[in-house]
Amino acid sequence: MSKKIGDVILDVKNISLSFGGVKALSDISFNVKEHEIRAIIGPNGAGKSSMLNCINGVYAPQQGSITFRGQTFKHMNSHQVAVMGVARTFQNLALFKGMSVLDNIMSGRNLKIKSNLLLQALRIGPAEKEEIMHREAVEKIIDFLEIQAYRKTPVGQLPYGLQKRVDLGRALAMEPQVLLLDEPMAGMNVEEKQDMCRFVLDVNDEFGTTVVLIEHDMGVVMDISDRVVVLDYGKKIGDGTPDEVRNNEDVIRAYLGTSH
Ligand SMILES: Nc1ncnc2c1ncn2[C@@H]1O[C@H](COP(=O)(O)OP(=O)(O)OP(=O)(O)O)[C@@H](O)[C@H]1O
Ligand SMILES: [Mg+2]
Repeated sequence: MSKKIGDVILDVKNISLSFGGVKALSDISFNVKEHEIRAIIGPNGAGKSSMLNCINGVYAPQQGSITFRGQTFKHMNSHQVAVMGVARTFQNLALFKGMSVLDNIMSGRNLKIKSNLLLQALRIGPAEKEEIMHREAVEKIIDFLEIQAYRKTPVGQLPYGLQKRVDLGRALAMEPQVLLLDEPMAGMNVEEKQDMCRFVLDVNDEFGTTVVLIEHDMGVVMDISDRVVVLDYGKKIGDGTPDEVRNNEDVIRAYLGTSH
């Protein structure tokens, strides 16, 4: 597989984050290059989700900085991050369970809706055109994710694997440059995992989207990532290609010492 990896798009420098006495992240630095699939791995409680939460502005780290496309931030603001082109999916799904698949994915486009609410409510002028454009974009995502049959189904009625796919669709609706995925394959059976892997690879390949992926399944990580960061107890213990990380003594030790 040969693909073109670009310049650094996201640069995390010396990030430290504590919750009271708990040091969730200690002086973490790593970068993400355009078009790569960058995995973050590590045992439970290593700080993986906290790292994504710093990148997308949910948590404000006490130290360090994050540079996104040349702009440096002490802490990110979640709205601004989204506008700049970073979308994410959640470890614990954050979908509207009573709403249809279509409407959930549409909710990902809220940021892009420009016309004012009155025009939208009346469906006149630019609002009508805009609505058509957004619907078309959402339909494309539904086709891409092969969930046409469930367009009108309330998300809560779908099997878990498909709910995760809808969550990916909601993030894709933002047309992100960088997609942060927090355990997109957790709790899935083998077939669902294979499907999700294929979609992540296709998003990366067809849309050129940069992917930052937290995943526990080592087979998946080693298969699809270009580079891997390893965290353990809030510290970075490894960083490199899948092969480099696999042979890293500290990484082997961290994994042997846990149930993963
Ligand atoms: N909002 C919070 N308040 C207090 N402590 C937190 C909070 N979020 C995370 N932590 C703590 O920070 C540490 C890192 O948690 P985090 O969720 O980032 O780990 P993780 O690597 O994503 O783990 P998992 O694989 O279980 O999802 C843990 O000790 C956790 O208890
Ligand atoms: Mg987590």
